[in-house]
Amino acid sequence: MNICCFNEADNVERRVAITPDVIPILKKSGFNVLIESGAGISAGFSAEDYVEKGAVVGAGDEIIEKCDIVLALSRNVLNRKLREGAVVIGGLNPYDNPKELLRYVDRRLTLFSLELIPRITKAQSMDILTSMGFIAGYRAVILAASYLQKVIPMMSTPAGLITPAKVLVIGAGVAGLTALAIARRLGADTYGYDVRPAAKEQIRSVGAKVVEMPVEATGAEDREGYARYMGEDFYAKQRMFFEEILKDFDIVITTAAVPGRDAPKLISEEAVKRMKKGSIIVDVVADRGGNCVLTQPGEVVTRYGVVIIGYTNLPSQLPYHASILYSRNLVNFLLYISKNGMINININDEIVSDTLIMHEGEIVSRKFKELIGVK
Ligand code: NAI
Repeated sequence: MNICCFNEADNVERRVAITPDVIPILKKSGFNVLIESGAGISAGFSAEDYVEKGAVVGAGDEIIEKCDIVLALSRNVLNRKLREGAVVIGGLNPYDNPKELLRYVDRRLTLFSLELIPRITKAQSMDILTSMGFIAGYRAVILAASYLQKVIPMMSTPAGLITPAKVLVIGAGVAGLTALAIARRLGADTYGYDVRPAAKEQIRSVGAKVVEMPVEATGAEDREGYARYMGEDFYAKQRMFFEEILKDFDIVITTAAVPGRDAPKLISEEAVKRMKKGSIIVDVVADRGGNCVLTQPGEVVTRYGVVIIGYTNLPSQLPYHASILYSRNLVNFLLYISKNGMINININDEIVSDTLIMHEGEIVSRKFKELIGVK
């Protein structure tokens, strides 16, 4: 079968869905790899790099006719004239306007959306949210450090002592824990907060102190380990709590998210007003509206002397490694669902049934059915 990768780069996307390093693996497994000219350039990969590893590079119109499987970064590839029956594997962002994906049922496309992958050990090597969370958490710290007017680590100089910067991370999932670990490696005094009880141990495991809110967060975790929607009253209490404590921190990195919903608003205008001038907020969930009410998605703004970084798609700012991890996730998934270069769908497998949005004109994924409100 022919696997294709299109050039999905634009002004906010610099990653590519297939990197040259995975091509020998795909070829050994019986697949041909076709890459659209221009794909990968913004991530640091040239056409020669792809050809050297055994791919064919060609114009989009030419490869689309031969395309059996598309490895994709986003649902934008569905706007291409894919052949009926083509298989698309990638980040189709089913949480954002899921019903839009129903348009493709009639074209009998087979769509796998890897955001829906179950959080089980067996699926970890295919988990794009985890990979991109690592990159986003790292990037958040580097961005904060570059905007901060202070030095992060403690420095004992002949001219005097510099005390370490204090960093608070709100939301200790994959991105948040990575941010805590990186900030600590830079020498920051690190603190973490999350609604999930299990997160406390994870925060401590990366050398950070746990910040506790004096209000019980009961039922905060669902059976998959994701946070639940806690209700507006609870979020109002959280905002009041953060109004009291954010003034103690130099950097606040927020990653709090609930699948399928806008990011909860946890940082009020009042909290920003009370923060020290020159402090930094990095709102990692700006794509989903942001945890701070003053975040401007896609922009960096200064409000009351606080720099609020609201860039969307942080992984795309480190496109080389983000692409390498993403591409490996997709290839691991493809190899999991195929045999001798052919796709072999086993609907009874949990990884398949959760991620398979549609197949042969039918909606399959239970999680996707929930999102579109179908039983
Ligand atoms: P996410 O991106 O959905 O959310 C980020 C964090 O925000 C989560 O830790 C969540 O608890 C927290 N959060 C949500 N609402 C909040 C609020 N109001 N206040 C404070 N924090 C709030 O989470 P992510 O990174 O996708 O991880 C979700 C869970 O899945 C975690 O428990 C993680 O350890 C687990 N996981 C398990 C994997 C596996 O076993 N294969 C792989 C990856 C993650």
